[in-house]
Formats: sequence, structure tokens, C-alpha cells
Amino acid sequence: MANRQQIEDWNGAVGERWLTYNDWLDRRTAAYGRDALDAAAAQPGEAVLDIGCGAGATVFELARAVGEGGSVTGVDVSEPLLSRARERAAALALPVEFRLADASRPLFAPARFDLLFSRFGVMFFDDPVAAFAELRKTLKPGGRLAFACWQGPDRNDWYRWPLRAIAEAIALPPSDPDAPGPFAFGKPERVRQVLGEAGFDAVELRAFEAPFYLGEGDDPDAAAADAYDQVMRVGPVARLLAAQEPAVRVRAEARLRAALRELARERGIAMMGATWTVTARAA
Ligand SMILES: C[S@@+](CC[C@H](N)C(=O)[O-])C[C@H]1O[C@@H](n2cnc3c(N)ncnc32)[C@H](O)[C@@H]1O
Repeated sequence: MANRQQIEDWNGAVGERWLTYNDWLDRRTAAYGRDALDAAAAQPGEAVLDIGCGAGATVFELARAVGEGGSVTGVDVSEPLLSRARERAAALALPVEFRLADASRPLFAPARFDLLFSRFGVMFFDDPVAAFAELRKTLKPGGRLAFACWQGPDRNDWYRWPLRAIAEAIALPPSDPDAPGPFAFGKPERVRQVLGEAGFDAVELRAFEAPFYLGEGDDPDAAAADAYDQVMRVGPVARLLAAQEPAVRVRAEARLRAALRELARERGIAMMGATWTVTARAA
């Protein structure tokens, strides 16, 4: 079954962690999403699909932009995240709808949407060309695609530095840069190729950078402690450390604490975060 691993992950431990720390994650990713929302420029009355919408933050932003005459549908494979999105929608009284499904499958009538949008929800397909080709069919002729995806790990210190710290104590497993995951669209040429083969044109990637606050606090010690908690909650370091022998884990955790304390400044730890704001049109 296509995307089986991701569907399992986002309905299992990964989805649960995202749910627990959803407010924190929304704050950390807001600036990158804002740049993509600006590029998407949703208009009153438009029909929009938010791909991999998670707990719905950008669905609500889009709903405000399209207004009462428009519609926004959020699609996601994660039952726990979509349940949270539905609760939030009810509390905000916004006319949005959600669909629990794999966005790469034929789900919607052809030419239903004016705009396909995503904040970090399109890098998880096993076969991205097939997935985007299917999604393109749901766009009206000339319809728009706009999404935010991370640039490579080398441009995202919030991800790279904690891994580098624990690499002093444990051997990091090899990773395939194109494998489904947060950095699958790090290479611009890959994004162009995938979207081109899927039937999009006018593909543009605009580099966007904003600080990623890995730790906040009133002084450097507090910021370092907060950063340590954050790194141990969501992301690859927590997963890698959980699989280690206790003695190795203790050594790696000590290296991580020391590295974060060195990085901490008066106002916290601000690390580089870099995304592509990608736009394209249905050819
Ligand atoms: C990094 S999270 C981003 C969530 C949300 N867009 C946000 O910005 O908070 C990636 C999301 O993509 C969803 N996802 C992964 N593969 C998917 C697929 N094939 N179809 C639909 N959603 C998928 C996950 O369940 C998860 O909610």
C-alpha cells in the first residue's frame, strides 16, 4: 500500500507527539507558513485544498481569506491530528471541512479547486510524481499550487546541530536525502522535476529564512534547558536516543546539554531555519 509507513507513523507515535506539542509547533512554523500563504494569495470566493493540513492552523487562515463565498478542505492521513483540527474548527465557527485520507489518491472531482496549498505536508509521498499528478487533476485549468517545504538539513541548523552534538556519542544511521520526510524537497532541482513531471508549469522556488527558536528563557541556562526539552520531544534526536543502550544514551544526552548551553544567549537559542516557498500552475 502506498505511503503505508507514513500513515502508520502519523497515526502512531509521530502523530501523538505532534498533537501533544501542536501549539509549540504552530508557533515555530508560523513564519514559514505565512510566506507560503502570502505567495498563495487566496482570494474571496475561492475553493482551496490544504494538503497534509495536520491540526488545521493554515486551513483556518485560508478560510478567513476566502470568506463565506469560498471553501477550504483540509486533507490528512492522521486521525489524531484531524480530530484536533475538527475541534478547533468548531470552536472557531469557521465553515471548513476535513477529509481523513491519503492526499495522493483520487479523492475529489476533477477541476474542483482554485488553489492547492500546504505547509510542510507534501514531502511524505512514496511516489511524489504520481501524488502531484493526481492532485493536479483536482485543479481548475490555470489553478495554483503553493507550498512551504524545508530546504536541506545543511540549511536548517535547528535540525542539524542537535544531531551533530549526539554524533559525538553515537553513530548516526545513513539517510537517503530524497526519502519521504521533512527534507525530501530540499533540492530545488528535485522539486522542479517532480512538479514538471506531474503536469505543473511556472514552477518557482523562493528561498525564505526565519529564525527557528529552539529554546526560550529569561537567561541562557533557562533557554538551554528549554531547548533540551524541545529536542527530546519531537524530531530525530529523541527517536535515536530512545533506541540506545542506557550508558550510551547518558553520554549523548550530556553532549547535547553541553552543546545547547554553548549556543544559548540572553534571549534564547535562535537557529537558522530555511524553507522553499514553492509556487506553480496547472499546465
Ligand atoms: C509536518 S506535518 C504538517 C502539518 C500541518 N500542515 C502544519 O503545518 O501544522 C505533515 C502532515 O502531513 C500529513 N501527511 C503525510 N502524508 C500524507 C498523505 N499521503 N496524505 C495526507 N496527509 C499526509 C501528516 O499526517 C501530517 O499531518
